[in-house]
Amino acid sequence: MLAIGIIGASGYTGFELVKIALKHKHISKIKLYGHSSSGQSYSKLYPELSGFNCIIEAIEYIDFTLDVYFLALPHTKSIEIVEKLVKSYKCIIDLSADFRLNSKDLYDLVYHQNHTASELLTTKVYGLSEFVSSDKFKCASVIANPGCFPTVTLLSLLPLVKNFSNKINSISTVAYSGVSGAGKTSTADLSYSEMFGNTKAYSVLTHRHQPEIEQELQNNFPYSITMHLLPVKRGIYATHTIFLNEAIEYEKLNEVYQSTYKEKAFVRMREMPPELNWVIQTNYCDINFQVKGKNIVITSCIDNLIKGASGQAIQNMNLNFGFNETEGLI
Ligand SMILES: NC(=O)c1ccc[n+]([C@@H]2O[C@H](COP(=O)([O-])OP(=O)(O)OC[C@H]3O[C@@H](n4cnc5c(N)ncnc54)[C@H](OP(=O)(O)O)[C@@H]3O)[C@@H](O)[C@H]2O)c1
Repeated sequence: MLAIGIIGASGYTGFELVKIALKHKHISKIKLYGHSSSGQSYSKLYPELSGFNCIIEAIEYIDFTLDVYFLALPHTKSIEIVEKLVKSYKCIIDLSADFRLNSKDLYDLVYHQNHTASELLTTKVYGLSEFVSSDKFKCASVIANPGCFPTVTLLSLLPLVKNFSNKINSISTVAYSGVSGAGKTSTADLSYSEMFGNTKAYSVLTHRHQPEIEQELQNNFPYSITMHLLPVKRGIYATHTIFLNEAIEYEKLNEVYQSTYKEKAFVRMREMPPELNWVIQTNYCDINFQVKGKNIVITSCIDNLIKGASGQAIQNMNLNFGFNETEGLI
């Protein structure tokens, strides 16, 4: 049985981690840590968990004897803590962007921060669960949980890019996210009155998830992604348009996607464009593709807080410890 620590338990992804951990049969002890919420009772903060009596402790007083640590902190805040935890070779799963990029220079540029534990950028495992081999998990100390947009995008594009890269001219992704993607601390532009009945693009050509996606795609063709906010609480919907220089037969593409995902519990190939409603509150990623001449359109969606964050983090823990991949998640 595992003892786990959730650091950043008061936030949106922290709350999802707590809910999953409470029903996970291999977790027997949960400790919670927070910043401004330290000292508060968790069930006062989240009354829907009224039977769970736990006080949020201050991050400064982390118990270093636990088996697994989930960090659900704003980016740049995980580095120092991971540096301390890693010394005792724990399983550390970081939901922030602090360990996702492989290059210190790129991290410093994108996050305007000097990465002080850059040696871990090269030894960490990038935890896109469906694409990590089990032997890699076993020697991982730091698992960098992918971003929400990278998760839905990479699951949609990697089978195509890995098999037909030389036939791709360019790819453009247009993605839509619910407002919980920005975390619990609301700003005026994310408030209900601003977003209800509204939609808008944001971080055009500058979104921090683009370098992460390109790092994992290893694309030798132009790629762009444009994010939009949707007037919903949760969920990400992405439409990927692929421009080919040579047509790919539907059957060949289908074979590649079916064989990539046939053993994967959380990716569902769909015969029609999926709907957000099919994946909300689940760890599933639903994908459909349509082919016409030299164009392919792939549509896909996930719940940003589950498959895009906490669900995938638990899936990574399950894979790391050799548990059933779906434990706590179905
Ligand atoms: N939201 C998503 O859809 C999503 C998806 C994938 C990845 N992520 C990533 O996951 C991480 C957590 O996201 P979230 O949406 O859960 O954020 P959130 O709701 O804003 O929660 C942030 C957490 O970090 C703590 N915190 C805030 N400022 C801090 C500081 N200066 N030092 C230490 N701790 C601090 C907060 O503690 P107090 O409340 O106690 O102050 C809270 O527990 C982020 O890095 C985010 O990019 C989020």
